Amino acid sequence: MPGPSDTWLITGVAGFIGSHLLETLLRAGRHVVGLDNFSTGKKENLSDVEARVGAERWARFRLIEGDLRSPNACEAAVRGVDVVLHQAALSSVPRSLVHPVQVLEANTIGSVNLFSSAAQAGVSRVVYASSSSVYGDVSTALRREPVLGEPMSPYAVSKRAMEQLAAVTHRNTCIALTGLRYFNVFGPRQNPDGPYAAVIPRWIRALLDAECPVIYGNGTQSRDFTHVDNIVRANLLAAARPAGSCGVFNVGTGHGTSLNALFETLRTHVAALPGRAKASEVRALAAPPRAGDVASALADLDLARQELGYEPVVNLDEGLRQTVSHFAGVRGTRNFLEARR
Ligand SMILES: NC(=O)c1ccc[n+]([C@@H]2O[C@H](COP(=O)([O-])OP(=O)(O)OC[C@H]3O[C@@H](n4cnc5c(N)ncnc54)[C@H](O)[C@@H]3O)[C@@H](O)[C@H]2O)c1
Repeated sequence: MPGPSDTWLITGVAGFIGSHLLETLLRAGRHVVGLDNFSTGKKENLSDVEARVGAERWARFRLIEGDLRSPNACEAAVRGVDVVLHQAALSSVPRSLVHPVQVLEANTIGSVNLFSSAAQAGVSRVVYASSSSVYGDVSTALRREPVLGEPMSPYAVSKRAMEQLAAVTHRNTCIALTGLRYFNVFGPRQNPDGPYAAVIPRWIRALLDAECPVIYGNGTQSRDFTHVDNIVRANLLAAARPAGSCGVFNVGTGHGTSLNALFETLRTHVAALPGRAKASEVRALAAPPRAGDVASALADLDLARQELGYEPVVNLDEGLRQTVSHFAGVRGTRNFLEARR
């Protein structure tokens, strides 16, 4: 079990999920090292965490600006570290179809560098971010850990290779390596801009600007949209597993929501904000399905419940409400994990 004096490394610390892990660990008084090359991460995410946790807790954080693809950067980052939460990657299925080499280098070569450095440095536990995309074209919507289909994008290949590299590293070194297959994560600080932005921040931004967002396909395809605090919770549980453990677990909510239903809910939340009534008139534009997208996906949580004791802490509706408030700049947006402590 990680102890209060342990030092944690978060790779991808300036990204969306990494910055939430950082905030939670610093609030809990932990010492944290962060590694990021700022390819998609932002300095503003770190300044936001600094402002939220205060100077005293922030002093326990050390940032290394470096690239996972460099073995030297990985060696420097794991020095003196007890637990690694590995989040750094180039994400997005569409990005990987356009830039497959960059995605494979960052996600696969970068991960094997990190796993080897961690094992050599005597790190006790590594938790790493995999993805529901590894299920590929499996025929049922409900995703169970042992049943994998064919990958549908280079991103999915990179995450599957990462899981296999983790299993091989574990077999040869006995370092504890736990993978978490995240399902469509959303929350404050997720990037709403650019061609590879995820659907929830992109649509919230469009609705706030009273612009029409695009739905690819007929909108009946469903996803297990998961608030980032559920992801943080799962990482902490995985980091507390016994020494020498290995395995891969789904992290979602176990509930599916269609893109059409998601759009309706977001529109209602945005239109309910002061001065945003015009959002209720916004209609979604239809576009053909995108290459690499799966039909429907929903996490089976049995294994995560059994082995990690994982249970979602934030449901979709409260998570969306909080995220809409964040993007609308409503002051005092609550932190669920802090509120439940
Ligand atoms: N957001 C989701 O819905 C989702 C779903 C499934 C899996 N994941 C996985 O979760 C992890 C975090 O995703 P996120 O949404 O926070 O993405 P993000 O893009 O916000 O964060 C990724 C971070 O990794 C950094 N990074 C990328 N390549 C790097 C490299 N070579 N060296 C050092 N740093 C590097 C980026 O600068 C960024 O700060 C990723 O591994 C992603 O594949 C995310």
